[in-house]
Amino acid sequence: MSVDMRTYLAHVELANPITTAAGCASSGRELSQFFDLNRIGALVTRSITMAPRAGRPTPRMAETPSGLLNAVGLQGPGIDAFLDRELPWLAHRGVRTVVSIGGGTVNEYGALARRLTDAPGVTAVEVNLACPNIEDRGRVFARDGAAAAEVVSSVRALMRYDVPVIAKLSPDVADIVAVARACVDGGADALSMINTPVGMSIDTETLRPALAAVTGGLSGPAVRPLAVRCVWQVYAALPGVPIVGVGGVLTGRDAFELILAGACVVGVGTALFHDPYACLRILRELEELLSARGFQRLADAVGLAHHHPPGGGTRHRPDVLPDPGAPGFGAAPGGSDLEESSL
Ligand SMILES: Cc1cc2nc3c(=O)[nH]c(=O)nc-3n(C[C@H](O)[C@H](O)[C@H](O)COP(=O)(O)O)c2cc1C
Repeated sequence: MSVDMRTYLAHVELANPITTAAGCASSGRELSQFFDLNRIGALVTRSITMAPRAGRPTPRMAETPSGLLNAVGLQGPGIDAFLDRELPWLAHRGVRTVVSIGGGTVNEYGALARRLTDAPGVTAVEVNLACPNIEDRGRVFARDGAAAAEVVSSVRALMRYDVPVIAKLSPDVADIVAVARACVDGGADALSMINTPVGMSIDTETLRPALAAVTGGLSGPAVRPLAVRCVWQVYAALPGVPIVGVGGVLTGRDAFELILAGACVVGVGTALFHDPYACLRILRELEELLSARGFQRLADAVGLAHHHPPGGGTRHRPDVLPDPGAPGFGAAPGGSDLEESSL
């Protein structure tokens, strides 16, 4: 049985929910050597900045158990080159393109939005909030709801009304729901989570930090439970807001987990470094999984775990809805269960 895999990012329809994650497929050219980019829901570009950036010194990647640490530092050619060469290449091929943007000030994000607003081929803009705010002692925007909201509202005000603005959140906060809510109040049409939490590793042979930048962002399967938790909490608090779930997705089952938590779109990042076909494989596996469980539409699975009591062993059948009187039903939303369980 085939499954209707269409999904919506705000009002924009995507043929399926699988996208690349920002920074893991550059601007798509390399990946297009392996498959037609139109077969995935959308391509998310690396974060584009105003000026060209050389990135951080090397080494800037280190493998960790079930994960990858990176401190690439938004290397890229800047908005002019992106608009001259990269975006037209994607637009010419009709690739659904989510342009990720990064900046050091609210004005820089606004300036990027101004440059992108009339550019053909922009499906959505993803605001990478995990950048240091140079006007606030380098405090990362994503860690401060008010600063994050200010960035989002400046991008929303300058971006064409029919281009959704997605706020990409970081898990390195005490209360992700508060930051998510601030971004939605600031005008975000959708939310993406998670960006990489900050980690560190030390080389026990050289006795030095493994990364030249000392700390870096952790990605890969190690962070998936963090992503699932963030998506779960935000979906419970803001159920109408579309969520792009990102973090440690290697298989269709991993994507399904994020969808059950509340994501309607799923980004694939680190997996692409081992397997350039990962997006297509994950899409196929997800469709098979949904079909085997009797789903006719992907949309019916989004957030479904919120309606099932925690624990339990029965496999979902879409025709059997959970009993609202059952123990545990409705206990999950809001995150209070999580706080209790970590005491
Ligand atoms: C090498 C590398 C570069 C990244 N660059 C960006 C970036 O430019 N902008 C951004 O928002 N996230 C960036 N990320 C974070 C990913 O988009 C994603 O949120 C994170 O890696 C978790 O997903 P994953 O475990 O599937 O990789 C980068 C991640 C990696 C590993």
